[in-house]
Amino acid sequence: MLGQDQRTEHFRQSMRRLASTVCVISCKRGGERYGITVTSVTPLSFSPISILACVNKTTSISAPLKDVGRYCINVLRASQADVSNSFSGGLPPKERFDVGKWAEMDGIPYLPDAQASLFCEIDQAISYATHDIIIGGVTAAHFAPDIAPLIYQNGSYAVAAPLALQKAG
Ligand SMILES: Cc1cc2nc3c(=O)[nH]c(=O)nc-3n(C[C@H](O)[C@H](O)[C@H](O)COP(=O)(O)O)c2cc1C
Repeated sequence: MLGQDQRTEHFRQSMRRLASTVCVISCKRGGERYGITVTSVTPLSFSPISILACVNKTTSISAPLKDVGRYCINVLRASQADVSNSFSGGLPPKERFDVGKWAEMDGIPYLPDAQASLFCEIDQAISYATHDIIIGGVTAAHFAPDIAPLIYQNGSYAVAAPLALQKAG
């Protein structure tokens, strides 16, 4: 049986191999905008149309997000690593929205030039240790014509490329 430190390290190394698309969750409460970078986004179901994200309870968006219950999941494009860096601690919460061309829809900040913008309403917030699993019903989804998401793997940004089809025989 491995010790706790070793299990944590093996988990960390394993997760470096889990490539994920980078997103920013954004919301607005009392005239103040909040946002953080996340990779914990997972589509949940088509009926109802729903999506989940795991948000650390210590982050600046945690309380406002659960208060207002309305938010956007901005799926970043490969050219938006600067947005990801700003929203993951590179800038203090109040200055983050200076990076990227942000707009607003029904009082929710969103990035019109992201790969996709998923407008959500919280259906459930499930507390699990340090995080809340935020389950949102998707009220509207906008997407870009091209497909060029920003990927995070092995602690770095990357792009996804389709595999060339293998010819049979
Ligand atoms: C690529 C990447 C993915 C992240 N994914 C998550 C996530 O899924 N959930 C989360 O709570 N924080 C995640 N973080 C960390 C937050 O973005 C970071 O803690 C951020 O500074 C939010 O905290 P603050 O608003 O209190 O500064 C991620 C950071 C990076 C760089």
